[in-house]
Order: sequence, then structure tokens, then C-alpha cells
Amino acid sequence: MPSPQKLQTFLDIATEAALAAGAVLQQCWGKLDSIEEKGRSGDLVTNADRAAEAEILKILGRHLPNHAILAEESGQMGGSLPDYLWAIDPLDGTTNYAHQYPLYAVSIGLLYQGTPVLGVIFSPFFQELYRAASGLGATCNRQPICVSKTTSLEKSLLATGFAYDRHGRDDNNYAEFCRLTHLSQGVRRGGSAALDLVFVACGRLDGYWERGLSPWDVAAGVVLVQEAGGLVTAYDGSTFQVDSGRILATNRHLHLALGEVLKNTCSLGNPDQYELA
Ligand code: IPD
Ligand code: CA
Ligand code: CA
Repeated sequence: MPSPQKLQTFLDIATEAALAAGAVLQQCWGKLDSIEEKGRSGDLVTNADRAAEAEILKILGRHLPNHAILAEESGQMGGSLPDYLWAIDPLDGTTNYAHQYPLYAVSIGLLYQGTPVLGVIFSPFFQELYRAASGLGATCNRQPICVSKTTSLEKSLLATGFAYDRHGRDDNNYAEFCRLTHLSQGVRRGGSAALDLVFVACGRLDGYWERGLSPWDVAAGVVLVQEAGGLVTAYDGSTFQVDSGRILATNRHLHLALGEVLKNTCSLGNPDQYELA
């Protein structure tokens, strides 16, 4: 595990990169040159995604030339099993951004030997900068944040999302969404996994689950939730794997109850076992 001093240095570098990428996103807001589909229907990429990612790669490359990178638009660079791997989503919430719906963010996570240890998420529209590293706590605009105290599903506000492949799959999360909408005070579909996670971290949401995610969607947010006192696991409560596609993140109090509903609502047996099939 990297020392606290090293993590602090990495946090500052990731912050510089997230703010620079955020500035690019703000400049392009409402005046996009190009919006393309990446293959799956609805999976968009814009000139802003690419320009923001270029900015992040430039800054990480300047400070940490030996670190490997997995970036959504450029793929993996620098070694197949590296100790340090940066997982970068230059624009999480591209669909929102393309429609000028303000829930979007830059998400920069760092994995150490496959485990998320640091996260910086920046929301340019709301000017909120979220930072966390293992053992160093979680902050929003430099103020400590912590998860909510809600202890019952009936009193909870939750969030989820629906992956781009939802049209062609039985495990599309619709049944889970309906069931939990019935059991809670509401389930939001914000359209940015990174912001869903930081909203759990700062107590605006009590829990979040989703399937079909990529490492760059969640690497940073996982650390924010954990450092804010929350819990992140697979749907069945087992250890979270960043490349599994599935995540259950809560304020800790609701973890068992939410996991139980997911288990009992899923029509295809153990939900954690069919993601890669
Ligand atoms: C998407 C968002 C969305 C989630 C999708 C992600 P993108 O990321 O995080 O909330 O439901 O699964 O792919 O494509 O906007 O970077
Ligand atoms: Ca994303
Ligand atoms: Ca993205």
C-alpha cells in the first residue's frame, strides 16, 4: 500500500488533472462540435470527452510517466499487470452533458494492485470537488464528508442506473428498480455513476446499485464512499471487484436490506454470477 505521503502527492496530481479537464468541459458546455455513437446504441462520445481526456493524460504523463493508465476513450496504456493503474472517465454522464443536463463529472481513480485506493471526482457545473484516499478521509471542497444515518429502506433515498446494453439483456435492472421504488422513498436515475457514488459519500443518497459498469465509472467513487464511512461490495455482500461490472454502495446501515432485495428480485439466480456470461 502506498504511504500517506505518496497518496497525498497523487491526490494533488489527480486534482490538478480533474480541474483542468473540468475547465475543458465547461468551455464546451452547450457548444459541442461532434456527438457520435460508440457502437452500442445510446453510448455517446463527444469532442469534449476526448479533449478532457487528453488534458488528464497530459498532466498524469508529466508527473507520473511510469504509471499505467486505463482511460475510457484511449484504452489501457503502460503494462498489463501494473502496481499502479489510473482509471479515468473524463466525462461521466455524457448523455446528460450532450443534452445540457448538469449531472456530469470528471472521475479519476487510482488502483493499487487492483484495489481502488484514491479518487478525485469534479462536478464542473456545481463546482464541487470530491477527494479521498485510503486512510486519509473524504472531502467535498476540502470539507470532510460522511454518509447518512438512515437505517430503514422505507426512509431511504436511493439511486441506480441502466447500462447501454439494457435493451438486449434480461438482467436489465428494471425489476430491481421497480421493487426498490416501491420499498423506499424514491430511486433516482441521475445518469452519472461517479456522482451517484459521491452523493452516497456525502449523505444525499443512502444507497446505490448498478450493473454493467466499467472500472473508470467506479474506481474513484468507491474510495469516496469507503472513506466517508460507507460500504461497497458486490450485490451479495462479497468483496467488490472493480472489473465485475456490479456495485452495491450504501451508508452501511442499509447494506444487508438492500442486498437482500437485490438477491430476491433478480430473476436469473445469483446476480453476481451472470455479469460476465
Ligand atoms: C455512464 C454513466 C451512467 C451509467 C452508465 C455509464 P458515461 O457513463 O455513469 O450513469 O448508468 O452505465 O456508462 O458513458 O456517461 O461515461
Ligand atoms: Ca462513465
Ligand atoms: Ca465517459
